[in-house]
Amino acid sequence: SRLVVLVSGSGTNLQALLDVAADPAYGATVVAVGADRPAIEGLARAERAGLPTFAERVSDHTSREAWDSALAEKIAEYKPDLVVSAGFMKILGPAVLSRFTVVNTHPALLPAFPGAHAVRDALAYGVKVTGCTVHLVDAGVDTGPVIAQTAVPVEDGDDEATLHERIKVVERGLLVEVVGRMAREGWRVSGRTVRLGTTL
Ligand code: GRF
Repeated sequence: SRLVVLVSGSGTNLQALLDVAADPAYGATVVAVGADRPAIEGLARAERAGLPTFAERVSDHTSREAWDSALAEKIAEYKPDLVVSAGFMKILGPAVLSRFTVVNTHPALLPAFPGAHAVRDALAYGVKVTGCTVHLVDAGVDTGPVIAQTAVPVEDGDDEATLHERIKVVERGLLVEVVGRMAREGWRVSGRTVRLGTTL
């Protein structure tokens, strides 16, 4: 399967996919990496891997819809079987979502703590357990059907950085597992249920 990965930051989730995709048994390869801004570490990781990259800033377009369409065209150039949003910090619109299946990873147990500050919000709330969620992207903010989740304990003395780091270790493993299963076994959606080839 052909993956296009969308990033906005350091790209450690992307790196996990790049590393595992080196094994042909994984069943998926990253064919291109896109971002919502240029010159970020995630794009540098793609360049180091010899992959084509693209960046589409919202501010370079006359409207959100124009940005969404431009992004969809860029993605389409690489003919992906699946798009992976890995730390991508923009809400994707109908031009992208009508053409591609998009999987997102979120550093909280949705529906708790959606949005751009999930780890900070979980800490502020005082939860004892948080985690990460891999889900299909729909038109909302982190509202699409859940595919898989893993719980992560909050430790005494955690701050946003230590908690997010603990989550990211688990998150990259969950993303690699889910994307690999979708690539190898396929998936089908009925309502809010996403079934992969076998269990999970
Ligand atoms: C991940 O935890 C992602 O879920 C969140 O921000 C982090 C991005 O990490 N949106 P990276 O860019 O993959 O290193």
